[in-house]
Amino acid sequence: MIKVKERKSMLDEVLHGLTGPQKSLPSKFFYDERGSKLFDEITGLEEYYPTRTERAILKQNIDEIGCYLGDEIILIEPGSGSSDKTRILLKGLNNIAGYLPIDISGDYLFSVASELRKAFPEITIQPLQADYTHSIDLPDSLPEGRKVVFFPGSTIGNFKRDTVDRFLNVVADMVGSNGAFLIGADLKKDVDVLLAAYNDSKGVTAEFNKNILRHLNLELGTEFNTDLFDHKAIWNEEESRIEMHLICKEDHEVEVDGKSISFKEGESIHTENSHKYTLDEFSEIVSPWFDVKKVWTDEQGWFSLQYLEPK
Ligand SMILES: C[S@@+](CC[C@H](N)C(=O)[O-])C[C@H]1O[C@@H](n2cnc3c(N)ncnc32)[C@H](O)[C@@H]1O
Repeated sequence: MIKVKERKSMLDEVLHGLTGPQKSLPSKFFYDERGSKLFDEITGLEEYYPTRTERAILKQNIDEIGCYLGDEIILIEPGSGSSDKTRILLKGLNNIAGYLPIDISGDYLFSVASELRKAFPEITIQPLQADYTHSIDLPDSLPEGRKVVFFPGSTIGNFKRDTVDRFLNVVADMVGSNGAFLIGADLKKDVDVLLAAYNDSKGVTAEFNKNILRHLNLELGTEFNTDLFDHKAIWNEEESRIEMHLICKEDHEVEVDGKSISFKEGESIHTENSHKYTLDEFSEIVSPWFDVKKVWTDEQGWFSLQYLEPK
């Protein structure tokens, strides 16, 4: 269960999102323990190309990545989830002194961290439960070293273009002038490939999408009936992004903190964006804070791993 202050802030964000002209919910609320596990299931699906593509890029280029990152690295990972891709770095590089996984999904974060401590006893592992959309105070007890933020999975694509700046500011603050940013960014490609990735045939993404309502029920005591919503993923050409929505199947009302919110048949709750970039667009987005020093991609040019340094 979350603390009183966090519950209040969750409630404020939920009410704000559900009372606007286009109903929406912040995608961070997908993630309680069940949501984190469903996301892991998605990453193993045939249609979900980003995870296996990024893993292959990391494995194929591990030595070169190590050279770019330098010596005595403190690896910081906002939104670490299963830390599955990070294991490739922790195993393949001998220059990592400390690892700080940061995630909003606390129970899952701490259980992953305890597995990692067993697997990598020589690396200092310090999990931190925090929301990376706000500034983050790093623990004083971190070992000395070059701070490298690792942000795989194209999670950057979840930010709207007008809010990505705040996150890049948080990262720039974390790494300081001598640090670096290793980031995964998903690239533009055939729309059918994109739509299949977010509308998988087993319905795992649909369950993940509906988990946002289950999570609200658990934390806020709301009584959303997930059977009254359908999962839908669409391509928004103008914004160059996949959007996930929950489509209401029949008129009904749900009470949130004593306020009755009405949902009309066919109306949507917008739950997530996943922006797709060209290399030039991405370089432009990060350019106020970072220079792109190296880009690794796969043969099809579907996904990129990029090494950035502060300006
Ligand atoms: C798309 S998953 C990516 C997981 C992993 N980094 C990967 O590449 O497979 C996003 C992760 O970020 C976490 N997350 C989402 N929003 C967050 C927020 N605002 N603050 C901290 N963690 C967040 C989720 O719990 C989840 O583990």
